[in-house]
Amino acid sequence: MTLSELYVGCRTYRRFEQRPLPDGLLRAMLENARIASTGANAQTLRFVAVQSAALVAKMQPLVKWAAYLPKEIGTPAEGEQPVAFVVIVKKAGSGAFADVDVGIAANTIATTAWEAGVGSCLMGSINRAEIAALLGVPAEDTVFLVVALGYPAHKSTLVPVGADGSVKYFVDEKRDYFVPKRAFDDVAKIV
Ligand SMILES: Cc1cc2nc3c(=O)[nH]c(=O)nc-3n(C[C@H](O)[C@H](O)[C@H](O)COP(=O)(O)O)c2cc1C
Repeated sequence: MTLSELYVGCRTYRRFEQRPLPDGLLRAMLENARIASTGANAQTLRFVAVQSAALVAKMQPLVKWAAYLPKEIGTPAEGEQPVAFVVIVKKAGSGAFADVDVGIAANTIATTAWEAGVGSCLMGSINRAEIAALLGVPAEDTVFLVVALGYPAHKSTLVPVGADGSVKYFVDEKRDYFVPKRAFDDVAKIV
């Protein structure tokens, strides 16, 4: 897989096969996130990988899926849910660039997963207080982003943004996803 193939394929996945991640993959994700660039090399993020069945089950109701879709379409049912999560925590006193650090770390985690064929969903619509309580995150720190993980059980295809300008993803009758992306010239230029 070339890097360009990785960036095309590494989409958001919201339904997953119910089989475990390969041995060592969570560790590899966190290793790559650990050494990712951070503003001023401050390294103020902390990562909690959740893989025990009991904790994974407790995480499921604490994340919110697919705001553009009805719940029965966008939210994974039992038997479709992620099999692991990585929780990204911003330590108290993190500097102004920490939000950027979270983005870099999250993408590092997602692409490391995808290299092994494991799909992900970055999740910001989460119950921060309950996740913190569940995982023993210190009260002064912030649960910032969750990465849901598992082998994908659906396809996701990029399509151009249509004439109506909508960026809302949609699904077909198989609940495969289609994700509109703006045209190159609408978002970028080379001068
Ligand atoms: C910062 C961030 C937060 C997100 N939060 C959620 C979320 O809470 N729930 C969800 O289902 N998807 C979430 N997503 C996934 C986006 O909806 C998804 O990236 C977008 O629809 C584009 O799809 P793509 O990732 O395949 O390009 C989030 C993505 C990002 C980058």
